[in-house]
Amino acid sequence: MKSVELNIQDAIYFAEKQYEGNKAAAVDAMAKLNEGSGEGSDFLGWLDLPSTTSQDLLASINKTADRLRKNCEYVVCVGIGGSYLGAKAVISALSDSFADFYAPTPENPKVLYAGQNIGEEYTAELEKLLEGKKFGIIVISKSGTTTEPAIAFRIFKEMLEKQVGKEVAKDLIVAVTDEKKGALRTLATQEGYETYIIPDNVGGRFSVLTPVGLLPIACAGFDIVKLVAGAAQMEETTKHSGDENPSEVYARMRNALYQAGKKTEILVNFNPKLHYFGEWWKQLYGESEGKDGKGIFPAAVDFTTDLHSMGQWIQEGERTIFETVISVKEPAITRRIPEDAANLDGINYLAGKRIDEVNKMAELGTKIAHVDGGVPNIKIELNKLDEHSLGQLIYFFEKACGISGYILGVNPFNQPGVEAYKKNMFALLEKPGYEKETEAIKSKLK
Ligand code: PA5
Repeated sequence: MKSVELNIQDAIYFAEKQYEGNKAAAVDAMAKLNEGSGEGSDFLGWLDLPSTTSQDLLASINKTADRLRKNCEYVVCVGIGGSYLGAKAVISALSDSFADFYAPTPENPKVLYAGQNIGEEYTAELEKLLEGKKFGIIVISKSGTTTEPAIAFRIFKEMLEKQVGKEVAKDLIVAVTDEKKGALRTLATQEGYETYIIPDNVGGRFSVLTPVGLLPIACAGFDIVKLVAGAAQMEETTKHSGDENPSEVYARMRNALYQAGKKTEILVNFNPKLHYFGEWWKQLYGESEGKDGKGIFPAAVDFTTDLHSMGQWIQEGERTIFETVISVKEPAITRRIPEDAANLDGINYLAGKRIDEVNKMAELGTKIAHVDGGVPNIKIELNKLDEHSLGQLIYFFEKACGISGYILGVNPFNQPGVEAYKKNMFALLEKPGYEKETEAIKSKLK
């Protein structure tokens, strides 16, 4: 079943010439992806991942997840960037909005996150929450050397070992990392942790459909078989070049808008469950395209919430933005607005309507206002928020990202700029091996 529809009718007339002009570049980008002939082609493992992921791997991930679910009230996912955002996006989209406020029930652990920041209070407060609780750890790092997750893992590993002993802790820790390289692989081998492999040819931000995303998602109780099946369907839909390929059309459209001066893309949702999907999308597009002095700036908002904070800017600020709206057709729950005899708030005209009817009119009214105000609008419609649709949406954006990067003329699969802050941080912290950099940075600070 096709659950994701793309509509560019309210965007194309802002950049019709550029859209037509991009056709050849899009065909070329598709060929580069399909033939592996573009820059960064050693990182194309995500392309056929959905159709090639074996049922055996999915069953093994589910088995590991069941073990953690049976033995833990909390599962702490330690990872940063591409090693956490995909799982968090899917889990948030599928979970009850207030899941975190309910106590865990047997075999239904809460999935929590660590190592995605260097917040001292965050870390200490998570330790406080876990004190005396049954918990497990999924530690995820492709390189196995990233500082943030390394700090968090050291702390929560030590805590777990103190609480349950080294032998029991060993079975409550799972590592997801490179097959051979990195400190985490060495540690996992030494300690005897169960491990899953992040394929060499899949970069962090394209890794949600590997064990990086699938294991935490399964631990949260969601169906990874349906998620991967949804992605496989989109893999099929986006295989060939042409107007029937929604990823290609989206990639062409956003590049056409960029060429017409729209330098910022705002990913909009009208469903707060999609907040972290926006965070995942920002990394995917930001890291893939922001290089060589080029690239659309990816931003994200939650509507209608942010209409009351960002709405003014979007309506009347500098005309350099366009919106891509993710719209969910059918909410899973029906709730109607009640009648009130006094009607002091004046909203009895809405009585009997579903809350979503109001939301949809807010969406339509916003689109008309923003388009009238010079903001092109791309719409992506999802039938509902479930594993199958999310799988389709993830793959749709991944494929579009590869095409879009090649149309833009960058290597969408590297991230050289991410190293700059790390180098300075290591120099400032006087990491062994960084003596020259330490001297240089200290002289700058004088
Ligand atoms: O997309 C990327 O490559 C990065 O965002 C990484 O996912 C992030 O830096 C974490 O790296 P690692 O998984 O090696 O710890």
